[in-house]
Amino acid sequence: MTEQFVDPYEVKGKIDYNRLIKEFGLQKIDKKLLQRIQKHTGELHPMLKREIFFAHRDLNWILDEYEKGNPFFLYTGCGPSGPIHIGHLFVWYFTKWLQDKFDVELYFQFTDDEKFLYKNKSYEEIQTWLEENMLDVIAVGFNPKKTHFIIDTKHAALLYPHAIQVAKKITFSTIKSTFGFNDSTNIGSIFFTSMQTVPSFLPSVLKGKNIPCLIPHAVDQDPHFRITRDILPKLSYYKPASIQSTFLPPLTGNEGKMSSSEAAKGILTTDTPAEIKNKINKYAFSGGKATLEEHRKKGGDPEVDIPFQYLRYLFEESDEKLAQLEKDYKSGKLLSGEMKKYAIEKITDFILKHQERRKKAKDLLPKFILKV
Ligand code: TRP
Repeated sequence: MTEQFVDPYEVKGKIDYNRLIKEFGLQKIDKKLLQRIQKHTGELHPMLKREIFFAHRDLNWILDEYEKGNPFFLYTGCGPSGPIHIGHLFVWYFTKWLQDKFDVELYFQFTDDEKFLYKNKSYEEIQTWLEENMLDVIAVGFNPKKTHFIIDTKHAALLYPHAIQVAKKITFSTIKSTFGFNDSTNIGSIFFTSMQTVPSFLPSVLKGKNIPCLIPHAVDQDPHFRITRDILPKLSYYKPASIQSTFLPPLTGNEGKMSSSEAAKGILTTDTPAEIKNKINKYAFSGGKATLEEHRKKGGDPEVDIPFQYLRYLFEESDEKLAQLEKDYKSGKLLSGEMKKYAIEKITDFILKHQERRKKAKDLLPKFILKV
């Protein structure tokens, strides 16, 4: 088995999230915090109840400030290096829920610089993915009046003066130990964390007062924001808070995360119903037993069953239905082919709706780009 490894540039192995909480120094989202969130949101998002968003930093402080009448802004982002898959989507749909429930501003960063620097891809190709990926973010349904896209290479004049403030406070040694860099790493990559830090205080700059920041993200981004949290008080800004998710597993099984560089491992927002069906049927790791007889007798394992896991992450909103699927699978009443069929239906339905909104996204784009 591959040893667990998590940083922004690589996720490997079967992840033990409790171990990650300890190693990264995160707080678990517990019952008490869930109740506190629910006081404001009325209901809890399934991704909170299901512990998909499982950890945080300073979320209690964010709620303290909110309750005092000092609302936060949300900050999240996307590195445009390939097509958007469902492993990106679930974080953004959750972010939309937060935006709607708390009625707050969202700053959404596109790190085209990062992907150019880290990936073996041309600048032109990254720009094409940037255009494509922005349409997917719009298709999620964020409030155009309260959502602001920051594109690193396009907003460079705005970001750069702040990025150098950050960069001056980070040593090479910190970057090396955080990201495992060495003497062959290109120098753009070494600088990059400064760029990802800027949106966590840019609204404070623009509005001329300190505003709390909450960053929803998958837990692999935490190393960047650990550095951010060290630096911001030195620049007289608040440390950003975060709410962090587990990884949606790749089609092939419960290790690592879905990735845009391996097409066979992901379900894309641009897939046709036939492609979705084919990918699930052909690649999705099943927790079912080898023979029908054995499955009926011993039951399947929803924990490792990819179709079930996708339903759990994003595509089955009803907790009752999910619990029923789990129970029937474990008892052997529900077969793995039936689980796949149901997942295909739910995923297809969701993706088709997303695609409908995506078609209209281009016209909305100017509304989303941050104006300064
Ligand atoms: N580095 C992220 C990626 O590769 C993109 C990103 C930028 C981001 N800012 C963020 C992700 C804030 C989460 C939160 O995808």
